Amino acid sequence: MKKAAPSYETPEVREFAEVLRGRRTIELFLQTLVPKALLDEAIEVATWAPNHHVTEPWHFYVLGDKSKERCLDLCRDLVTAKKGEAAGDFKRQSWSQKPGWLVVSCQRSEDAARQKEDYASCCAAIQNLTLYLWKAGVGSKWTTGDITRDARFYEIVGIDEAQAFVVGVIWYGYPKLTPTQSRKGLDEVRTETL
Ligand SMILES: Cc1cc2nc3c(=O)[nH]c(=O)nc-3n(C[C@H](O)[C@H](O)[C@H](O)COP(=O)(O)O)c2cc1C
Repeated sequence: MKKAAPSYETPEVREFAEVLRGRRTIELFLQTLVPKALLDEAIEVATWAPNHHVTEPWHFYVLGDKSKERCLDLCRDLVTAKKGEAAGDFKRQSWSQKPGWLVVSCQRSEDAARQKEDYASCCAAIQNLTLYLWKAGVGSKWTTGDITRDARFYEIVGIDEAQAFVVGVIWYGYPKLTPTQSRKGLDEVRTETL
C-alpha cells in the first residue's frame, strides 16, 4: 500500500510561504545597526544553497566604514561624470543612508557551462541570505548598478577581477518603509504537459 504524502497544510509551511512572498526589496532603511552575529548567521546559511559539483563559488565581503566611504565617493564620481555634480552629490547622500553593505562575488571559470551554474548558485545563496535576514526583520536591496562593474570598486573591496566577479551589492538594514509588489498569477507562469 502506498503511504499518504505528509500534510503540507501546516502553520510552519504557511509561515515559510509568507516569508517567500513577503520579502521585499527595501529602498529606505532605519539607521539601527544590524547585529554582526546576525549577518554572519545569514552568510553561513547562504552557503547552503545548491551548487553543482559543490564548487562553493561565492565570497562575501562585509564592508567597513572606510570602504563604504570610498564606495560613496566612487558612486558620486560615477554619477557626476554621467549626470553632473548635483546629481552626483544627491546620489552620494542617498547611498550614505544604506546602513549595511555586503558584496557578493562569484569565482570565474573558463568553462562557460560551469560559469553559468556557479553564477546561478551565487544567486541562490543571495536569496537564502535575504530571506533569512527578512525573517529576522532585516530588509535588503540587491543592486547591480554601474559601481559593481568598475575596476575601482574591485580595488576598494579587495576582489581580484581576474579571479572573481561581482554578483551584487546587498544593502541591508531594518526597513523604514516596505513597498508592495505584485506578481503574475499561477496560470500565467505554469504549463502542465501531458
Ligand atoms: C540580479 C538582480 C539585480 C538587481 N539590481 C537592481 C538595481 O541595480 N537597482 C534596483 O533598483 N533594483 C535592483 N534589483 C531589485 C529588483 O528591482 C527587485 O527585486 C524587483 O523590483 C522586485 O521587487 P521585490 O524584490 O521586492 O520583489 C535587482 C534584483 C536582482 C535579482
